[in-house]
Amino acid sequence: MSGIIGYCGKKPASGILLEGLKKLEYRGCDSAGICVGTDTGFRIIKKTGKVRDLKAIVPEEPFGQNGIGHSRWATHGGVTEENTHPHLDCTGKIAVVHNGIIENYSQIKEKLITKGHVFKSETDTEIIAHLIEDFYAGDLTQALRETAKLLKGTYGIVVMHNDLPNVLVGARNGSPLILGIGDKEMFIASDVNTMTSYTKQVVYLEDGEIITITPDEFHISDFHKKSANKTIKKVDWESEIIEKGDFEHFMLKEIYEQKESVVRGMAGRLNVNLATGHLGGLNMTNAELLNVERVIIVAAGTSYHAGLVAAYLLESLARIPASAELASELRYKNPIIQKNALYFVVSQSGETADTLHALRELKRKGAKVLGICNAVGSTIARETDGGVYIHSGPEIAVASTKAFTSQLVALYIFTLIMARIRDMSFEAGAEFVKQLQGLPDIIDKVLLKSEEIKKLVKKYSFAKSFLFLGRGINYFVAMEGALKLKEISYIHAEGFSAAEVRHGPIALINEETPSLFLVPDDRLRDKIISNIREVKVRKGKVIAVVVEGDDEVAQIADDVITVPSVSEYIYPFVMAVPLQLFAYYMALELGRNVDQPRNLSKSVTVG
Ligand code: F6R
Repeated sequence: MSGIIGYCGKKPASGILLEGLKKLEYRGCDSAGICVGTDTGFRIIKKTGKVRDLKAIVPEEPFGQNGIGHSRWATHGGVTEENTHPHLDCTGKIAVVHNGIIENYSQIKEKLITKGHVFKSETDTEIIAHLIEDFYAGDLTQALRETAKLLKGTYGIVVMHNDLPNVLVGARNGSPLILGIGDKEMFIASDVNTMTSYTKQVVYLEDGEIITITPDEFHISDFHKKSANKTIKKVDWESEIIEKGDFEHFMLKEIYEQKESVVRGMAGRLNVNLATGHLGGLNMTNAELLNVERVIIVAAGTSYHAGLVAAYLLESLARIPASAELASELRYKNPIIQKNALYFVVSQSGETADTLHALRELKRKGAKVLGICNAVGSTIARETDGGVYIHSGPEIAVASTKAFTSQLVALYIFTLIMARIRDMSFEAGAEFVKQLQGLPDIIDKVLLKSEEIKKLVKKYSFAKSFLFLGRGINYFVAMEGALKLKEISYIHAEGFSAAEVRHGPIALINEETPSLFLVPDDRLRDKIISNIREVKVRKGKVIAVVVEGDDEVAQIADDVITVPSVSEYIYPFVMAVPLQLFAYYMALELGRNVDQPRNLSKSVTVG
């Protein structure tokens, strides 16, 4: 999604804005722009393409007093310089950047045109500048407040006025805005990463709040002028290092990071002596956890797949009814909240609109909702009743990889806790703890297959469509593998239960549609072998991810990727990593933009 950065303070603004935009770019960026206040008025520079394209046309010597910047991910109107933010009013004195979608923009635009306003872009954002122009009578905050009252939809907005050097005004509704408080300087941005190299003191705005900042002070109020008492929070991590290092792409770096990120997710959370786990953020006693009669995990995309794996695990090991639901569907289905049900919302970004709205709907109905998030201080993390940070570190590539395995780690530890409170013995708990502790080594071994997988994809890059097939807990990993392949290589791919193939998808099988089977050495192995044979008989090409030494499968399949043998429920980790590599190398082979695939953005804050 688009990103916002605003600055007012003693430093020249242009450099800070460009630096901030660079850190926002991973969210998806097809054009970027800045508006900087100078002694001679606004200086606006916009460029289609990436932030580096904008940087190339901005004077190297930083300049300006205050300013706003925006990296755009087109929603309303094509990728053109006219549609690139900041947008101006008719007088050219009011500049606006905006994240989100204004749903009633066309009605407002019509009225504004009737009143004589002239529009230069096709965006929904531009109406904001013109509305502020109409309302402005010397008080920019009030003009934004009046404007916000008319807007329907989601927004994070930051505004500056040419007559008010060193003042920025912002409003939030459904799209994050964070204030950073520095030494005689203030930042306002959609992403805390943009400011952590300057300040660790932040204030998170809530929906319905308006903020006014100058280099020395800030004031936050609601749409009815009521002042809000805000707590200044301390961000306790260093400015995130968003560097690729020796890796060609962030995605590959993040795939490799999994051997460390799973360790971070477990640190201090496994209790070897008691053969259980500990997740302080749940804010629930064991007695309360014992009363839970159902667990429902709500999420989107990859996070939903992690939820599906976890629901299966919870039922299998903790013997507690569990399910995963798509946030986008749940939020509109008037869900029944069962007494003693515990909900989890799972989100890497903590800003996904569907997941956030599902959370709010669940809470409105009185449900207990916990969060599993990666982004610290994100809206979902703040609005849940408690929860767990997965600590996988910033995930920059659009395709989620390390967040998936870290979400699993958190949910596996939760399952262990629930299982140990119920029927799981000390011995079984100790064994499970041991298996989790062994994950980094296992992931390391799977990563050694990287070159092999790189070679293998060349043989299959002809395919226009792929089936990913698994059973039991790995069925959901097959879904995840298909999602990874389609989103970054643009090859059509679907994940199915291998057993379901004969109920329809088998009609797709021919020499041009390869199937990728997940074949662990578990109780369903023989069943999967039958499914492979059915595909082979129909001339389908088969790649099998199999356990080292499984010669029987190696003989039937056209190609194999071998992985270490682990216990049944650890396979999702072992199977996910080669599928991530498979998607990565396929996208590379096909010359795709791996880290920023077309039409996708890192955090889907509209929905
Ligand atoms: C897939 C992917 C998306 C996200 C989904 C949810 O690689 O990245 O499917 O998983 O948009 O995002 P979060 O977890 O941020 O809520």
